[in-house]
Amino acid sequence: MSNRPKITVVGAGNVGASCAAWMAERDLGDIILLDIPATKDMPKGKALDMQQVGPISGYNARLSGTTDYAATADSDICVITAGVPRKPGMSREDLVSINQGIVADVTKKIVASSPNVILIVVTNPLDTMCSVAYKSSSLPKHRVIGQAGVLDSARMRTFLAQAADVAVQNVTAAVIGGHGDEMVPLVRYCNIAGIPLTNLLKKERIDAIVERTRKGGGELVNLLGVSAWLAPGAAAGSMVEAILKDSKLVIPCSCYLEGEYGLKGMYFGVYAKLGRKGLEAVIEVPLNDEEKAMVKKSADLIQDTMKALK
Ligand code: NAI
Ligand code: 2OP
Repeated sequence: MSNRPKITVVGAGNVGASCAAWMAERDLGDIILLDIPATKDMPKGKALDMQQVGPISGYNARLSGTTDYAATADSDICVITAGVPRKPGMSREDLVSINQGIVADVTKKIVASSPNVILIVVTNPLDTMCSVAYKSSSLPKHRVIGQAGVLDSARMRTFLAQAADVAVQNVTAAVIGGHGDEMVPLVRYCNIAGIPLTNLLKKERIDAIVERTRKGGGELVNLLGVSAWLAPGAAAGSMVEAILKDSKLVIPCSCYLEGEYGLKGMYFGVYAKLGRKGLEAVIEVPLNDEEKAMVKKSADLIQDTMKALK
């Protein structure tokens, strides 16, 4: 028996397995990988492989793979990556309806045996799937959060650090809004070592980085043929870390809004403070008219996607 936190990752595919590996490297807790794979023992194989990294990297996290929800009982946190990617010929509505079924089913099964769990949703379309998990779980909003902003900001930070030729640690990037091409990079709130971007980079360069950030997921799909997994896995893992370590880390993530930014009853990417309770505060920042218009466009797109829910 161990007293380490219990972390379940549902969906042991690209993102789920990467997230588990990232968390194991940081010894965040014992990790259960659950999947319903075509080859039944895949989650066990992935967990065993990661376990054997332990002696090399120096971690003691215990990893196990399963297809049985009984093994996930009393999880502290669950990262949901289960779902299907969009395939050629599949409409957004088709994707929503398939992943809605998967996310609702997974959520109910997890919560049934882990009543105190905090859910981190990763499955796309992200903000819509957060709503599905929130409704299916009946958990309070502070225990159902979505990963998007950490990844989108990390992409923007990467591009900014490269453009300014500085360390990524110097770069703060703020990307709120929905996880899609209409996300809202807030240039006014980005800085390099506290210095506004406009002092260090030309406007055209910043505009190009904003555009590249918005299309960041698509850029990787074009290169890889499937969507990215390393940065998405690390992004979800970093949210788990902030929660388990009670860090009070302020990062953008998808949260259930009740009036913030004029939005109600939907998930949307906002600055959030993460700690042991999960979402401990939504931090609303003042927006100018141009930023408000971007928020509206992004929120409208999510509302459109939500219409495909059954
Ligand atoms: P993948 O196909 O490699 O893995 C998905 C896994 O889910 C598969 O192993 C599959 O067997 C499993 N699965 C399907 N139905 C299941 C069920 N009912 N119960 C348990 N497991 C089930 O896909 P990948 O690349 O890992 O992506 C996973 C999801 O994450 C996708 O929806 C993708 O679009 C999304 N994503 C979201 C990002 C974000 O920033 N929020 C970033 C990258 C991916
Ligand atoms: C990404 O942003 C597609 O959500 C996925 O890489």
